[in-house]
Amino acid sequence: MRIILLGPPGAGKGTQSERIVARYGIPQLSTGDMLRAAVAAGTPVGLQAKAVMESGGLVSDAIVVGIVADRIEEADAKAGFILDGFPRTVEQAEALDAMLSDKGIALDTVVEFVVDENALVGRIAKRAEETAARGQPVRKDDTPEVFKTRLEAYRKQTAPLSDYYAGGGLLQTIDGMKPVDAVTEHLVSVLDRHAATVAS
Ligand code: AP5
Repeated sequence: MRIILLGPPGAGKGTQSERIVARYGIPQLSTGDMLRAAVAAGTPVGLQAKAVMESGGLVSDAIVVGIVADRIEEADAKAGFILDGFPRTVEQAEALDAMLSDKGIALDTVVEFVVDENALVGRIAKRAEETAARGQPVRKDDTPEVFKTRLEAYRKQTAPLSDYYAGGGLLQTIDGMKPVDAVTEHLVSVLDRHAATVAS
Protein backbone atom coordinates (compact mmCIF):
# COMPACT_ATOMS: atom_id res chain seq x y z
CA MET A 1 0.00 0.00 0.00
CA ARG A 2 1.28 3.50 -0.87
CA ILE A 3 -0.21 6.14 1.34
CA ILE A 4 0.21 9.86 1.93
CA LEU A 5 -0.75 11.37 5.28
CA LEU A 6 -1.61 15.07 4.93
CA GLY A 7 -2.26 17.69 7.57
CA PRO A 8 -0.80 20.78 9.19
CA PRO A 9 2.08 20.69 11.69
CA GLY A 10 0.93 18.92 14.82
CA ALA A 11 -2.03 17.23 13.09
CA GLY A 12 -0.78 13.78 14.09
CA LYS A 13 0.90 12.52 10.89
CA GLY A 14 3.98 11.19 12.71
CA THR A 15 2.03 9.75 15.63
CA GLN A 16 -0.36 7.86 13.37
CA SER A 17 2.36 6.71 10.93
CA GLU A 18 4.25 5.04 13.76
CA ARG A 19 1.08 3.25 14.82
CA ILE A 20 0.33 1.68 11.43
CA VAL A 21 3.78 0.64 10.12
CA ALA A 22 3.61 -2.78 11.73
CA ARG A 23 0.00 -3.43 10.70
CA TYR A 24 0.69 -2.88 7.00
CA GLY A 25 4.36 -3.95 6.97
CA ILE A 26 5.46 -0.76 5.21
CA PRO A 27 7.90 1.92 6.39
CA GLN A 28 7.15 5.49 7.47
CA LEU A 29 9.01 7.88 5.18
CA SER A 30 9.13 11.17 7.07
CA THR A 31 10.93 13.92 5.18
CA GLY A 32 11.10 15.91 8.43
CA ASP A 33 12.94 13.03 10.16
CA MET A 34 15.24 12.54 7.15
CA LEU A 35 16.09 16.24 7.04
CA ARG A 36 16.67 16.40 10.81
CA ALA A 37 19.03 13.41 10.51
CA ALA A 38 20.89 15.20 7.68
CA VAL A 39 21.17 18.36 9.81
CA ALA A 40 22.45 16.36 12.80
CA ALA A 41 25.02 14.58 10.61
CA GLY A 42 26.12 17.84 8.98
CA THR A 43 25.73 16.47 5.44
CA PRO A 44 25.61 18.92 2.49
CA VAL A 45 21.79 18.56 2.42
CA GLY A 46 21.66 19.15 6.16
CA LEU A 47 23.78 22.27 5.88
CA GLN A 48 21.42 23.68 3.25
CA ALA A 49 18.27 22.72 5.15
CA LYS A 50 19.18 23.77 8.71
CA ALA A 51 18.37 27.49 8.68
CA VAL A 52 15.20 27.05 6.61
CA MET A 53 13.87 24.40 8.99
CA GLU A 54 14.69 26.46 12.06
CA SER A 55 12.80 29.41 10.58
CA GLY A 56 9.70 27.29 9.85
CA GLY A 57 9.90 27.61 6.07
CA LEU A 58 10.00 24.81 3.52
CA VAL A 59 13.22 23.28 2.23
CA SER A 60 13.56 23.50 -1.56
CA ASP A 61 11.55 21.12 -3.70
CA ALA A 62 14.73 19.94 -5.45
CA ILE A 63 16.35 18.80 -2.19
CA VAL A 64 13.29 17.07 -0.81
CA VAL A 65 12.31 15.38 -4.07
CA GLY A 66 15.87 14.05 -4.37
CA ILE A 67 15.75 12.58 -0.85
CA VAL A 68 12.40 10.87 -1.47
CA ALA A 69 13.45 9.55 -4.90
CA ASP A 70 16.45 7.84 -3.28
CA ARG A 71 14.48 6.56 -0.29
CA ILE A 72 11.72 4.87 -2.25
CA GLU A 73 14.36 2.87 -4.12
CA GLU A 74 15.36 1.11 -0.89
CA ALA A 75 14.32 -2.51 -0.43
CA ASP A 76 11.94 -1.91 2.48
CA ALA A 77 9.86 0.51 0.39
CA LYS A 78 9.27 -1.88 -2.51
CA ALA A 79 5.97 -3.18 -1.13
CA GLY A 80 4.74 0.29 -0.20
CA PHE A 81 5.24 3.20 2.17
CA ILE A 82 3.59 5.83 4.30
CA LEU A 83 4.65 9.32 3.23
CA ASP A 84 4.61 11.63 6.26
CA GLY A 85 5.31 15.29 5.45
CA PHE A 86 5.75 14.77 1.71
CA PRO A 87 4.58 16.10 -0.68
CA ARG A 88 4.18 19.61 0.70
CA THR A 89 3.84 21.61 -2.50
CA VAL A 90 2.05 20.98 -5.78
CA GLU A 91 5.50 20.77 -7.44
CA GLN A 92 6.47 17.96 -5.04
CA ALA A 93 3.18 16.17 -5.74
CA GLU A 94 3.80 16.38 -9.47
CA ALA A 95 7.37 15.12 -9.01
CA LEU A 96 6.04 12.19 -6.96
CA ASP A 97 3.49 11.35 -9.65
CA ALA A 98 6.28 11.32 -12.25
CA MET A 99 8.52 9.15 -10.02
CA LEU A 100 5.80 6.57 -9.45
CA SER A 101 4.65 6.60 -13.04
CA ASP A 102 8.23 5.89 -14.19
CA LYS A 103 8.16 2.81 -11.97
CA GLY A 104 4.70 1.78 -13.20
CA ILE A 105 3.17 2.11 -9.74
CA ALA A 106 0.53 4.41 -8.25
CA LEU A 107 -0.59 5.89 -4.97
CA ASP A 108 -3.37 4.04 -3.21
CA THR A 109 -4.82 6.76 -1.05
CA VAL A 110 -4.21 10.14 0.55
CA VAL A 111 -5.57 10.66 4.05
CA GLU A 112 -5.92 14.18 5.39
CA PHE A 113 -6.28 14.86 9.12
CA VAL A 114 -8.78 17.66 9.55
CA VAL A 115 -7.94 19.65 12.68
CA ASP A 116 -8.74 22.85 14.51
CA GLU A 117 -5.64 24.96 13.91
CA ASN A 118 -6.13 26.71 17.27
CA ALA A 119 -5.41 23.46 19.09
CA LEU A 120 -2.16 22.74 17.31
CA VAL A 121 0.16 25.20 19.02
CA GLY A 122 -0.83 23.60 22.34
CA ARG A 123 0.14 20.16 21.03
CA ILE A 124 3.49 21.48 19.85
CA ALA A 125 4.16 23.21 23.20
CA LYS A 126 3.28 19.99 25.03
CA ARG A 127 5.60 17.96 22.82
CA ALA A 128 8.44 20.40 23.52
CA GLU A 129 7.83 20.18 27.29
CA GLU A 130 7.64 16.39 27.29
CA THR A 131 10.76 16.05 25.15
CA ALA A 132 12.70 18.37 27.47
CA ALA A 133 11.42 16.47 30.52
CA ARG A 134 12.88 13.26 29.04
CA GLY A 135 16.23 15.04 28.69
CA GLN A 136 16.10 14.84 24.89
CA PRO A 137 16.85 17.71 22.50
CA VAL A 138 13.75 19.78 21.68
CA ARG A 139 13.06 20.53 18.01
CA LYS A 140 14.22 24.06 17.26
CA ASP A 141 11.01 24.69 15.31
CA ASP A 142 8.75 23.68 18.21
CA THR A 143 8.30 27.21 19.55
CA PRO A 144 5.07 29.25 19.28
CA GLU A 145 6.82 31.84 17.06
CA VAL A 146 8.25 29.36 14.56
CA PHE A 147 5.03 27.37 14.68
CA LYS A 148 3.19 30.41 13.25
CA THR A 149 5.51 30.38 10.22
CA ARG A 150 5.10 26.60 9.81
CA LEU A 151 1.32 26.99 9.81
CA GLU A 152 1.51 29.86 7.34
CA ALA A 153 3.69 27.74 5.03
CA TYR A 154 1.13 24.96 5.32
CA ARG A 155 -1.78 27.24 4.43
CA LYS A 156 -0.03 28.79 1.45
CA GLN A 157 1.98 25.92 0.02
CA THR A 158 0.52 22.62 1.27
CA ALA A 159 -3.23 23.16 1.69
CA PRO A 160 -3.72 23.26 -2.13
CA LEU A 161 -2.78 19.57 -2.16
CA SER A 162 -6.22 18.69 -0.77
CA ASP A 163 -7.79 19.86 -4.03
CA TYR A 164 -4.98 18.28 -6.03
CA TYR A 165 -5.68 14.82 -4.61
CA ALA A 166 -9.46 15.28 -4.36
CA GLY A 167 -9.40 16.01 -8.10
CA GLY A 168 -7.69 12.66 -8.69
CA GLY A 169 -10.25 10.88 -6.50
CA LEU A 170 -7.59 9.87 -3.95
CA LEU A 171 -8.43 12.08 -0.97
CA GLN A 172 -10.06 10.79 2.20
CA THR A 173 -10.48 12.98 5.27
CA ILE A 174 -10.63 12.00 8.91
CA ASP A 175 -11.21 13.96 12.10
CA GLY A 176 -7.80 14.55 13.68
CA MET A 177 -9.27 16.20 16.76
CA LYS A 178 -10.42 12.93 18.32
CA PRO A 179 -8.20 11.18 20.89
CA VAL A 180 -5.14 9.45 19.39
CA ASP A 181 -6.63 5.93 19.67
CA ALA A 182 -9.88 7.01 17.99
CA VAL A 183 -7.94 8.61 15.12
CA THR A 184 -5.95 5.38 14.67
CA GLU A 185 -9.15 3.34 14.61
CA HIS A 186 -10.66 5.58 11.93
CA LEU A 187 -7.43 5.59 9.89
CA VAL A 188 -7.18 1.79 10.00
CA SER A 189 -10.83 1.44 8.97
CA VAL A 190 -10.25 3.71 5.97
CA LEU A 191 -7.08 1.85 4.94
CA ASP A 192 -8.54 -1.63 5.49
CA ARG A 193 -11.62 -0.71 3.44
CA HIS A 194 -9.34 0.54 0.69
CA ALA A 195 -7.19 -2.61 0.81
CA ALA A 196 -10.31 -4.79 0.61
CA THR A 197 -11.60 -2.87 -2.43
CA VAL A 198 -8.26 -3.24 -4.21
CA ALA A 199 -8.10 -6.98 -3.42
CA SER A 200 -11.66 -7.70 -4.65
P1 AP5 B 1 8.00 17.76 9.78
O1 AP5 B 1 8.93 17.03 10.64
O2 AP5 B 1 7.29 17.06 8.69
O3 AP5 B 1 7.03 18.54 10.72
P2 AP5 B 1 5.50 18.98 10.59
O4 AP5 B 1 4.75 18.64 9.36
O5 AP5 B 1 5.56 20.41 10.93
O6 AP5 B 1 4.85 18.02 11.51
P3 AP5 B 1 4.99 17.66 13.03
O7 AP5 B 1 6.02 16.60 13.16
O8 AP5 B 1 5.14 18.82 13.94
O9 AP5 B 1 3.50 17.19 13.22
P4 AP5 B 1 2.74 15.84 12.94
O10 AP5 B 1 1.55 16.10 12.07
O11 AP5 B 1 3.67 14.74 12.52
O12 AP5 B 1 2.19 15.61 14.38
P5 AP5 B 1 2.72 14.61 15.49
O13 AP5 B 1 2.17 13.26 15.26
O14 AP5 B 1 4.19 14.77 15.63
O15 AP5 B 1 8.78 19.00 9.07
C1 AP5 B 1 9.64 19.83 9.78
C2 AP5 B 1 10.30 20.80 8.81
O16 AP5 B 1 11.10 20.05 7.86
C3 AP5 B 1 9.37 21.65 7.94
O17 AP5 B 1 8.93 22.80 8.61
C4 AP5 B 1 10.27 21.95 6.75
O18 AP5 B 1 11.20 22.96 7.04
C5 AP5 B 1 11.03 20.65 6.56
N1 AP5 B 1 10.34 19.72 5.65
C6 AP5 B 1 9.86 18.48 5.97
N2 AP5 B 1 9.30 17.93 4.90
C7 AP5 B 1 9.41 18.82 3.89
C8 AP5 B 1 8.97 18.83 2.54
N3 AP5 B 1 8.31 17.78 2.00
N4 AP5 B 1 9.25 19.92 1.78
C9 AP5 B 1 9.93 20.98 2.29
N5 AP5 B 1 10.36 21.05 3.57
C10 AP5 B 1 10.09 19.96 4.37
O19 AP5 B 1 1.96 15.21 16.77
C11 AP5 B 1 2.34 16.44 17.36
C12 AP5 B 1 2.04 16.36 18.86
O20 AP5 B 1 0.62 16.25 19.03
C13 AP5 B 1 2.67 15.15 19.56
O21 AP5 B 1 3.11 15.53 20.82
C14 AP5 B 1 1.50 14.15 19.66
O22 AP5 B 1 1.62 13.34 20.79
C15 AP5 B 1 0.31 15.07 19.77
N6 AP5 B 1 -0.88 14.50 19.13
C16 AP5 B 1 -0.94 13.83 17.95
N7 AP5 B 1 -2.21 13.43 17.68
C17 AP5 B 1 -2.97 13.88 18.73
C18 AP5 B 1 -4.38 13.78 19.03
N8 AP5 B 1 -5.24 13.16 18.20
N9 AP5 B 1 -4.80 14.36 20.17
C19 AP5 B 1 -3.93 15.00 21.01
N10 AP5 B 1 -2.59 15.12 20.79
C20 AP5 B 1 -2.12 14.56 19.66
